[in-house]
Amino acid sequence: MSGVTLVGKVALVTGAGSATGLGNAIARALATAGAEVVLGDIDIDGVTRNAAAIGAAGRAIFMDVTDESSVQAAVHEVGPVDILVNNAGVTQRMPIWELSTDDFDRLLSINLRGGFVCLRAVVAGMMARRWGRVIWISSVAGKQGGGIIGTAHYAASKAGVIGLCQAAARELGPYGITSNAIAPGFILTGIATKALDPKQEAELDRTISTTAPVRRSGVPEDVASAALFLASEEASYVTGEVMDVNGGIYFD
Ligand SMILES: NC(=O)c1ccc[n+]([C@@H]2O[C@H](COP(=O)([O-])OP(=O)(O)OC[C@H]3O[C@@H](n4cnc5c(N)ncnc54)[C@H](O)[C@@H]3O)[C@@H](O)[C@H]2O)c1
Repeated sequence: MSGVTLVGKVALVTGAGSATGLGNAIARALATAGAEVVLGDIDIDGVTRNAAAIGAAGRAIFMDVTDESSVQAAVHEVGPVDILVNNAGVTQRMPIWELSTDDFDRLLSINLRGGFVCLRAVVAGMMARRWGRVIWISSVAGKQGGGIIGTAHYAASKAGVIGLCQAAARELGPYGITSNAIAPGFILTGIATKALDPKQEAELDRTISTTAPVRRSGVPEDVASAALFLASEEASYVTGEVMDVNGGIYFD
């Protein structure tokens, strides 16, 4: 998206350690628009590599979103954060009757509680400065009870993200802070590669490429463009929105 400027803004993108993931693509897009971008992840080697590829505007930091003290320490080191992208997430495919409560808790603590922990760490500063952008990465799975990539606990976490996003939109709007979610569909690479074997991934790619209205699977840049818009000044009147970025496989 050309024309957007984020010069003078600091963005924190969580889960930005995967080279092929959405977080890295989002970080690159925000940096291209002029933001200083902090890439946070438990994968410190990954964020170090991705930040170096961005250049002077990129910075890597260790951050475990399940651990509040780790997030607080990282944010303390970073300083004021204007744009928070809650992207860190994992998935698992498991039928309900085989799903353990430990697996349920573990996934929710990353995908849902993790975003809340990050928001808590930055929200007071955004409120004081009367400007902020909070972008949550949900999923089509959170709108339709799961999907190919994630099952019950994943769906619950991503539906929960929408609730948190919209509550934050209501409560933080008066302070100049918008809160919006992106619900990607099937995006090649990243989490999808981990959840599916190569044969399943190729089959899904084929199915989506022949049935989705836009006739292709998504790429990380599709999600990054949406994040860039939501981070921009131009999106200041958009809040509580859940933007489907899925090529039309689902809409409401
Ligand atoms: N790729 C898709 O098709 C798709 C579709 C819908 C939603 N999503 C969502 O997009 C987000 C990014 O997914 P992706 O495809 O880039 O996956 P990915 O696996 O490539 O990246 C996820 C990153 O999160 C990091 N992470 C995991 N646990 C963490 C923790 N405790 N603290 C900090 N970082 C942690 C991982 O190290 C990894 O770098 C996720 O929230 C995912 O649920 C992806």
